[in-house]
Amino acid sequence: MAYLGVDLGTSGLRALLVDEGGAPLGAAEKTYEAQHPHSGWSEQDPAEWIAALDAAVEELRAAHPEFAGLRGIGVAGHMHGATLLDAAGKVIRPCILWNDTRSHLEAAELDTMKGVRDLSGNIVFPGFTAPKLAWVSKHEPENFSKIAKVLLPAAYMNYHLTGSYFADMSDSAGTSWLDTGARDWSEELLAAGGMRREQMPQLLEGCEPGGRLKPELAARWGLSGEVVIAAGAGDNAAAACGIGAMNEGQGFVSLGTSGVLLAARDGYRPAPETALHTFCHAVPGRWYQMGVMLSATDSLNWLARITGTTPKELTAPLGKTLRAPGRVRFLPYLSGERTPHNDAEIRGSFTGLGAETTRDDLTRAVLEGVTFGLRDSQAALEATGLRLDRLIAIGGGTGSRYWLKLIATALDVTLDLPSGGEFGAALGAARLGMVASGARRVEDVMSTPSIREEIAPEPALRSAFDDAYQRFRGAYAAIRSVQ
Ligand code: XUL
Repeated sequence: MAYLGVDLGTSGLRALLVDEGGAPLGAAEKTYEAQHPHSGWSEQDPAEWIAALDAAVEELRAAHPEFAGLRGIGVAGHMHGATLLDAAGKVIRPCILWNDTRSHLEAAELDTMKGVRDLSGNIVFPGFTAPKLAWVSKHEPENFSKIAKVLLPAAYMNYHLTGSYFADMSDSAGTSWLDTGARDWSEELLAAGGMRREQMPQLLEGCEPGGRLKPELAARWGLSGEVVIAAGAGDNAAAACGIGAMNEGQGFVSLGTSGVLLAARDGYRPAPETALHTFCHAVPGRWYQMGVMLSATDSLNWLARITGTTPKELTAPLGKTLRAPGRVRFLPYLSGERTPHNDAEIRGSFTGLGAETTRDDLTRAVLEGVTFGLRDSQAALEATGLRLDRLIAIGGGTGSRYWLKLIATALDVTLDLPSGGEFGAALGAARLGMVASGARRVEDVMSTPSIREEIAPEPALRSAFDDAYQRFRGAYAAIRSVQ
């Protein structure tokens, strides 16, 4: 028997096939892009997700005969995206993504409404789903009037796979429509955002079964047995399932398009004043907290793009030996920032440039700027009383040894690198599929990975990075005042 984890990411879809013990059999990845028709906008056509899934499945089927024994699927999706469907189940407009900040005015308005933070447990960030719908209502009334269902990207994929509308708690907590403590849609929050319960999908725990694979897809994929689709998860909760971060004190740092510092919590203790996100976990009775920065590897990708090179070519010359922070500073706010500033309008900047500045200096400054942004999230978590001494490092950015050493030193934590590269959201999603199909129990399958290497902080450089971090904190206000 085999299980499929689908990680519907911002820059591509990754499908991971695992065996009944949860060990990877093979993976396929298909990329796509986000469209940015205006500054601060970020959209994707859901048809691209489906095309990527089809292509990934074709590749897995061809390479792995075990695919024929597929019994369960879990989908993890980039969070907060608004996929709007009409009464016939057709997509009305491109999905508005998590890093789209066009609805910052609507977000600020919702955020100040009485009871909204108390019920949702979070600031209403511009990237969340509710303000996007308020924006559509104001600027695209014709589209708004057609909306029969609003689905997050993972729930849209669930709908494509099963024909039914269902979503999990972890993803739904990022809409600003969920009572995150009670794990249910909130009538009050829905009404505040001008929405109705019947426009929402059915709510399930991430590891619960939501439906069965549609017969036409099963036939096309050469499957004869029944395939259960789990409710799935937002990508960060799924990644936590993939590395077994289920209990207080366990967490990860993720260097993806977004930068995330996540900690599993043993109860529900929202702290919106810190700009942390407090969301349901993908399994019953658990929650997690995270700081989110909007442009992590995206900052490095940007530098690579404008210098006509690749992120790998930028980081390779830095080698493996960490150097003290240089004079050049980078503020990583290319699309605004969530934790800790909740500022959709701030933009990035370089300071301290000199005639002698080299491309390597700029690369180091970008890596340092993103790292200091993660330290801001660490400070937010510490404000809730949580200090993590070890973090598992995941995501594309972990390919740079220099960056890992930098994060370990600037955050003063030991980073654990999992053996094998599959310990992300796709594995967590596959695990949810295994539990939903009845093959495994949460406690047995959501285990921590074996660690191939530990990256320790560099004690001699700690105080230099502390000083640079203090200057980074001061730079936000200074840059804000001139933009
Ligand atoms: C979390 C967030 C991002 C997306 C991207 O709040 O917006 O991490 O989930 O994957």
